[in-house]
Amino acid sequence: MTKEIKASFSENFLWGGALAASQCEGATLEDGKKWTTGDAMPYGVFGDVVIPPPENYLKKEAIDFYHRYKEDIKLFAEMGFKILRISISWARIFPNGDEAEPNEKGLAFYDNLIDELHKYGIEAMITLVHFETPLYLATEYGGWTNRKMIDFYQHFVETVYNRYKDKVKYWITFNEINVILDAPFNGGGIQGKPEEIDKSVLYQAIHHQFVASALATKIGHEINPEFKIGCMVANSPHYPLTPNPDDILEAMKRDRETLFFADVHARGKYPGYMKRYFEENDIHIDITSEDQELLKHTVDFISFSYYMSYCATADEKLNVQELGNVKSAVKNPYLEASEWGWQIDPKGLRFALNQFYDRYQLPLFIVENGLGAVDDLVPDEKGSYTVIDDYRINYLKAHLQQVSEAIKDGVELLGYTSWGPIDIVSNTISEMKKRYGFIYVDKHNDCSGTLERYKKKSFSWYKEVIESNGESLFNIEKQRKDG
Ligand code: BG6
Repeated sequence: MTKEIKASFSENFLWGGALAASQCEGATLEDGKKWTTGDAMPYGVFGDVVIPPPENYLKKEAIDFYHRYKEDIKLFAEMGFKILRISISWARIFPNGDEAEPNEKGLAFYDNLIDELHKYGIEAMITLVHFETPLYLATEYGGWTNRKMIDFYQHFVETVYNRYKDKVKYWITFNEINVILDAPFNGGGIQGKPEEIDKSVLYQAIHHQFVASALATKIGHEINPEFKIGCMVANSPHYPLTPNPDDILEAMKRDRETLFFADVHARGKYPGYMKRYFEENDIHIDITSEDQELLKHTVDFISFSYYMSYCATADEKLNVQELGNVKSAVKNPYLEASEWGWQIDPKGLRFALNQFYDRYQLPLFIVENGLGAVDDLVPDEKGSYTVIDDYRINYLKAHLQQVSEAIKDGVELLGYTSWGPIDIVSNTISEMKKRYGFIYVDKHNDCSGTLERYKKKSFSWYKEVIESNGESLFNIEKQRKDG
């Protein structure tokens, strides 16, 4: 008889999905909203910054979530979502970013959106800034290089906190806060390629975001002590390419490029290894004693995205950097990759969860994970259309099985929100061709499409995972039969 494998998700585990305003809402200039840095990247993170944005581009309408959120939330509810991670577009609330009074119409949209979620018993998790800043703050103030950004951000955050203090519990201060290092405009509204930007300027901007994030944590707890406020990093652990001690150290160093951001949020101060890095690289940043006090307001939980792992080596001949997400690193010969070269490593997620929990002993939240793939819409037996996305089911299943293992390892995990539960515009390449959803949206790279929604095969699969609280991942019935 085989030993039954049971899932380990807690009864109140928060299953759901995650979206970002600039990638799904569309309605770019509607109801008082103005352009954001998201609009100024019409060709993705590595394409040119275009100011003003062109006449037409995918994010302009995106999947029109702004007008179709009711239909979409109904589908999320059908899958049994407990939580939906959304972001609030700063420029809907403060169109230029430096106004004194908020735009009521922008707030009204999020009032309705959150109420609609609550109608189905779905909790809203809010990312305050997800890769978009009012464009005016980038062009007039230089984005996060300017200390004034902390005040503008504070005003925005306070407005939103006060509005939703009785409706929202989980908050994330910045999406993938570490991405600014490789994509400064995406992460911080700073123009120029990373290698062209003076390192002191870049780390000063990062410092401003740390202070802003700590301030958001402090203020949030004052407004409602029940708030749970977290940081969020893009997490792709590095394995040493070989057991050569130089590779081990190289992997440690590369990992610290990410861990630095979580360290400051969880420990309330700069780690020693960064002080050394600043000294050795002649990086000088202005950190006031008031900043140092603020940084002590540490987060309640740590959230992260996980799509892939990487390798690191100190051997110059083997150190071939391949691109994955916005960061590049060495390929792992043991792993397969997605069509976009993102290495598929479910066990890496168990590793990442353990690494973070061992380091911080704080609750964790996986707020992004998923497979970006090309989907083919085919007729289904009900006279409609579907996508037979077994590749996506396999990816998610393997990752969630490892999540269950990590929980058995002792990791405290609050929930899991898969990335793009409905197809949205990709961030790195700004395309619709790269799809993550359980729901297909008829929208294409050339901006054509009816915007009709269709359930993919993974829709009912994820529904079953949530319904069974993860038990279906282990196919208990099959184990019984086999046993
Ligand atoms: C994360 C971002 O980096 O990855 C999302 O937080 C993004 O905004 C997601 O969409 C997937 O990346 P991409 O480029 O495939 O959309």
